[in-house]
Amino acid sequence: MLLRVEEDAVGILTRNWLLRSHAMSTANEQSPYLLVLYYSRSGQTAEMAAQIGRGIARARGIEAKLRAVPPVSADTSTRLPEVPDQGAPYCTKEELRDCAGLAIGSPTRFGNMAAPLKHFLDGTGDLWITGALAGKPAGAFTSTGSLHGGQESTILSMMVPLFHHGMVLCGIPYSEPALSETTSGGTPYGPSHWAGTNTPQSLTHHEKTICQTLGQRLAELALKLKT
Ligand SMILES: Cc1cc2nc3c(=O)[nH]c(=O)nc-3n(C[C@H](O)[C@H](O)[C@H](O)COP(=O)(O)O)c2cc1C
Repeated sequence: MLLRVEEDAVGILTRNWLLRSHAMSTANEQSPYLLVLYYSRSGQTAEMAAQIGRGIARARGIEAKLRAVPPVSADTSTRLPEVPDQGAPYCTKEELRDCAGLAIGSPTRFGNMAAPLKHFLDGTGDLWITGALAGKPAGAFTSTGSLHGGQESTILSMMVPLFHHGMVLCGIPYSEPALSETTSGGTPYGPSHWAGTNTPQSLTHHEKTICQTLGQRLAELALKLKT
């Protein structure tokens, strides 16, 4: 197992681990990897990404690669560093092209994915035209402020462009007991987290389990589908 997920007290990936994973994944370009691609402004979706990484780490023969997308700004001349001060390195187009599978995550924004993730996906026309992602498994995850504030619609909104890319979409089967037992987030369409509105809450045990199930499932599917 090449990557190790470390969390600090509030469950957010440490910068050291992220930088190490960046360096290690560069050194292991030939190893198949599951890309966990996300946008997160206040850390909740990032926490889910870390748990999905844990699930991927359960599978043998495939690694997790956590990558973020940068925020969007009206000032398009601003150049952002390749590795941000906090959180995962920003994803390159090549990292998306070469993944064996994809877990994609965003906070809910008015029942939809956040603009930075949509902006990133809107720049992938060249991958669409070459069919670079066709036949690879993918799943989606989200964090919301309210329990009924659009978890399912956001997950489905992220799936729509992935269908255009020809990806094989995968959710959470009810054979995962946490899906029936959860009293917060977790949907058959993909993992979700109910963060709350005032003081954001950490992931519950069930939410973590569902994230890990998606990671493991995608990793195993990626290995089966890989030609
Ligand atoms: C502009 C905006 C729109 C939002 N829309 C919704 C929404 O439709 N439903 C909801 O439950 N939460 C909504 N939220 C709350 C976020 O989805 C929630 O705080 C999420 O956990 C943040 O994730 P992050 O920590 O990864 O950034 C919205 C937040 C912002 C700033």
